Order: sequence, then C-alpha cells, then structure tokens
Amino acid sequence: SDIGKGTYPFYMLKEIDEQPAVMRKLSQVYTDEKGHVTVDDAIINALVASDRIYIIAAGTSYNAGFASKYLLEELTEKPVELGISSEWGYNMPRLSKKPFFIFLSQSGETADSRQVLVKANELGIPCLTVTNVPGSTLSREASFTMLLHAGPEIAVASTKAYTAQIAALAFLGKAVGLKIDNKKAIDFDVVHELSLVAQSIEATLSEKELIESKVAGLLETTRNAFYIGRGQDYYVSMEASLKLKEVSYIQCEGFAAGELKHGTIALIEEGTPVIALIANNAKVAAHTRGNVSEVVARGANVVTIVEQDIANADDDIITNNVHPFLSSISMVIPTQLIAYYASLHRGLDVDKPRNLAKSVTVE
Ligand code: AGP
Repeated sequence: SDIGKGTYPFYMLKEIDEQPAVMRKLSQVYTDEKGHVTVDDAIINALVASDRIYIIAAGTSYNAGFASKYLLEELTEKPVELGISSEWGYNMPRLSKKPFFIFLSQSGETADSRQVLVKANELGIPCLTVTNVPGSTLSREASFTMLLHAGPEIAVASTKAYTAQIAALAFLGKAVGLKIDNKKAIDFDVVHELSLVAQSIEATLSEKELIESKVAGLLETTRNAFYIGRGQDYYVSMEASLKLKEVSYIQCEGFAAGELKHGTIALIEEGTPVIALIANNAKVAAHTRGNVSEVVARGANVVTIVEQDIANADDDIITNNVHPFLSSISMVIPTQLIAYYASLHRGLDVDKPRNLAKSVTVE
C-alpha cells in the first residue's frame, strides 16, 4: 500500500526516493489542462493586497521557509520574513501594516504553529496554511490552504515535505507574480523548471553508492561536522545539519561560509568533517571555494557538493544545474542521503531517532 515500506529498509530512504514523483505531481495539481498555473484566486488577491509575507514554521518546515524566501521575494515583490513558531507564540514582533501569514507544516498539527495561527486570526491577518495533511488543524483554522500532495510522510526526519514546500511556494510565487505582471514570473516556466529539478533529483538518487562511499568513513565515528554555504546554500546548510543531527546524533551546524572566519573556524581541527554546498551562483561560488581552502589548510576533511556548470574534477558530488529559484531542492538531496547513510553506518534506527516525535503537538 501507499504507506508500506515495500522493499525499503527504512521509510526515510523510500521518502527520499519519492521526491521526483512529488515534483511532477505538484506540476499536475497546480496547473490546468492548458498548462496554466492554478492557485486559488482568493489566496492570490489576499497576498497581492498585503505589504509583507511572514512565514511561520518549526524545524524542517522553518528551513523550507528560508529556502523559499528568495523565490517568493523575486516573484511577489514583497519582503519575506521568517518566524520560528515557538518564539512567535510568545514574542510576536512588530508587524507591517498589511501582513500575510504563511504557515508551513507537513503535519498541520504542530502546536507551536497553531498558537501563532490563533493569534493571527484574532488580529484579522489573512493566513495560508501549506500542509501535507488535508483537514489538519492548521488547515481548518486558516483562511486558506495549499496542499503538498507528497503522500504520507512516516519517517520522523522530514525529507519530501521540505522539497514539496519549496515547489508549492514556487507555484504560489508564479501565480502572484503573473497577477502583478512581474517580469521574472512571466519568464519563470515553473512546470518546465520543476521537471528539470525532478531529473536532477533522479540523477543524484542514481549516485547513492558514491554518496555513501564519501560519507561512510567520514561520519562513522565523528562527534561533530559542519555544513557551509552562501546565499541559498546557507539555508540548505541549515536543513542539512538539522537532518544529520536528528538521525545520526552528530553535532552539526550549518554556517554561512563567510562567517567561519568570525569565530567558527576555531573549531576546525585535523579531520573535522566540513561539507560545502556550492550552487551555480557566480557571485558567491568563488568565495565559498576560498572558505573551503581555509578549512582544508586547517586539516578539515572536506566534501564538496557542487552544481555541474561550476564543478571541477576534484569535486565530490555533482548535481545537475537547475533554475536558481529551485536550487535548494536539488542541493538538499545529497544532504538527505548523507544523513541517511551516516545514521545507517552508525547502526541507528533511521526512522525513529531517540527523543523525537513525528509531530510535536505540545507547546
Ligand atoms: C523534521 O525532520 C523534524 N522532525 C521536525 O523539525 C519537523 O519538521 C517540525 O517538527 C515541524 O513539523 P511540521 O512540518 O509537521 O509542522
């Protein structure tokens, strides 16, 4: 059945593998027979009428918010601000005059997020819940819902919900952008670009053995590790490190690569694993390469994950080029597999990490 593991040893691996299909499913769901993007007009109008987008979420969904900030800002022409639901429930910051709230939640049941939703409803703020679960609490209580159509996510470590959230928000951004005649939205063929993303994911999934071999020794006994990246890759680093922490128990942090020299580089010693993410962003790629050299000089064991066009022979894992709005999706896939194999090689229960519940329904 849909929620069986089939031949997979763990749900996490099954759900990682489902991502190309989820990308294609979203293209079906959010377009009509003519291929035009279809997002509920009421959502588009409410968003167009607002002056700022606030994304409220927890954990991986919070990281997916960051990964979607750039595309939403470019396509909707609104500033996008992120809020951690457990913080905003108690410390709501000063808001803009016409806020629009987006709640990202795989389960739609996260109590911390609901607490913010209740307050936002009291304040009369239009709220959109983007969730994988129709009829979930956050969906029922928000003015609007968009569904992720990712199929049930069983593994505690969220994978396909993260990539589905970015893809769903790409459709929202495209629809709003078209409404306001935004040039970048007109040029952004979201269905085509997501089909390239699906292919890129498939290419990475066909290299599982390579990825496993890169991390097996590196992450088998280490106590700590670092992800570094700039721009979009910094946001992916945050998610990559959360994933590694929760399933392998390795203490891992995601850093903006340029921040290393402001403190973190003190932690680098002989053999410290550092995984560098370098998407095809000419403005910053060379700088991240420079940061890689700095940690190598201090003895770090570096793994590089690089987009094809700017990759060289020394790079470890290479991903297909995709549209810059969507690079977080293709760049996160190797990091999901890194977390999975690290957990496996450490002999842990990949699907049920200690101390964690699938959805956190207490504040
Ligand atoms: C993800 O791997 C985590 N287990 C966790 O951070 C999760 O993303 C978070 O609790 C939010 O859940 P939600 O998306 O169902 O609201």
